Amino acid sequence: MRNVSVIIPAAGSGTRFGAASNKIFQPLAGRAIFLRSIDLFAARDDVCQILLVISSEDSAELSGRFGEELTALGVELVEGGDRRSDSVRKALTHLDAGAELVCVHDAVRPCASPERIDAVFQTAAESGAAILACPLHGTIKKTDPSGKILQTVDREGLWEAQTPQVFDRDLLIEAYALGGDATDDAEMVQRTGREVIVVASDINNIKITARADLVPAETIIRSDR
Ligand code: CTP
Ligand code: MG
Repeated sequence: MRNVSVIIPAAGSGTRFGAASNKIFQPLAGRAIFLRSIDLFAARDDVCQILLVISSEDSAELSGRFGEELTALGVELVEGGDRRSDSVRKALTHLDAGAELVCVHDAVRPCASPERIDAVFQTAAESGAAILACPLHGTIKKTDPSGKILQTVDREGLWEAQTPQVFDRDLLIEAYALGGDATDDAEMVQRTGREVIVVASDINNIKITARADLVPAETIIRSDR
């Protein structure tokens, strides 16, 4: 059933990446990063809508270079806001009537695997709220501001949140209606008191933050997973 609306936040400025234009436009193995992220959802038969959230600064470059392709992919454009949460909040006002689940996936995570996406969609369909996250593998230290170690933190039960993050439509709308800001959608939903389930992912679902992230991302894209 086509009942998942996908929101792809792409309206940041890519400051840490430091390119002349937004990092979302950078080619990764010959295809723009944000298009690779859209590709993860465009051919799924459970997706009814893809909303790409874009800043007004990037809309001319987007339509000039990619307008035809986005039309062919059926992607709808939404203007973003100052913070990521503002961008998602705006997109939530454009959901299809038939969308029962909403999937939020950052434009800069082009390497998510279809199997992991299946898994988080499935868990969200069962529980109402699920995210991909990667278990922490290292030895975790907590320090004071000077850098002096205060303790070694037990990594048992610690995860780094990723996207996709998938929620019941009404739950996500309710969460964002509470206002406020957070660095991910799960945190917004956690504030409603509803449980959010973690689905195990891995480091291959890399987020492109800095230029150095392109190297492993290209290897992952080119590898036959
Ligand atoms: N994003 C957004 N609207 C914002 C800020 C971020 O839609 N106002 C999007 C980004 O385009 C990105 C995702 O949220 O796809 C994750 O954000 P991040 O990796 O931090 O990207 P930027 O904010 O662009 O990068 P930086 O923080 O280095 O400026
Ligand atoms: Mg940012």
